[in-house]
Amino acid sequence: MVDKPDRAKEDVARFWKVLGERPIGFTVVTAAGDEPVGFVGLAVAHVSPPLISVAIDIQNRALEPIRRSGSFAVNFFSAKDEVIAEAFMKKGASGAERFWPHNWETLETGSPVLSTATGVFDCVVERVVELDHVNLIIGRVVASRIRQNGPPLVFFRGALSAMAICRNVQACDALK
Ligand SMILES: Cc1cc2nc3c(=O)[nH]c(=O)nc-3n(C[C@H](O)[C@H](O)[C@H](O)COP(=O)(O)O)c2cc1C
Repeated sequence: MVDKPDRAKEDVARFWKVLGERPIGFTVVTAAGDEPVGFVGLAVAHVSPPLISVAIDIQNRALEPIRRSGSFAVNFFSAKDEVIAEAFMKKGASGAERFWPHNWETLETGSPVLSTATGVFDCVVERVVELDHVNLIIGRVVASRIRQNGPPLVFFRGALSAMAICRNVQACDALK
């Protein structure tokens, strides 16, 4: 059977299942609010240096603080930070529950960033595109940081995974 391209009414579950075949670096989007806010945001993409895009659901609690402060940060992690990932995956958790158990700091914009994150982009909002049920936010990177800390944490087939680094692709049979 040949898979046909998705159409508007196709099952959303199918959409996510297909997308699940693309491992995505686990990413937390953070911003300054009355208390630090942050959510798991995998619809983050690089546009072209120094621009980053983030798609944020209009129901997302972090949207208003990001629009109000005019800034946000994106944080990437190693598998060692699975516990941070779980804190941010917990639905409805407060900023305090998500941030206080972990070390965090600020770079240029005042957006909170997780101290052990392996990669961080600190961004100011360049443009907001209001779509149907999401805001596509384009950010300009004003500061960044790298803190390498082992194999990356990725989201693959609907679950968190540690990415096995295998530069010799022919010899790598870890995944069937
Ligand atoms: C794997 C995964 C990826 C997600 N990606 C996004 C995203 O890109 N944009 C977004 O607005 N919400 C995304 N969400 C939803 C938010 O992380 C969050 O769960 C939702 O906004 C409810 O947030 P709250 O628990 O902070 O209230 C994602 C959730 C998961 C589990």
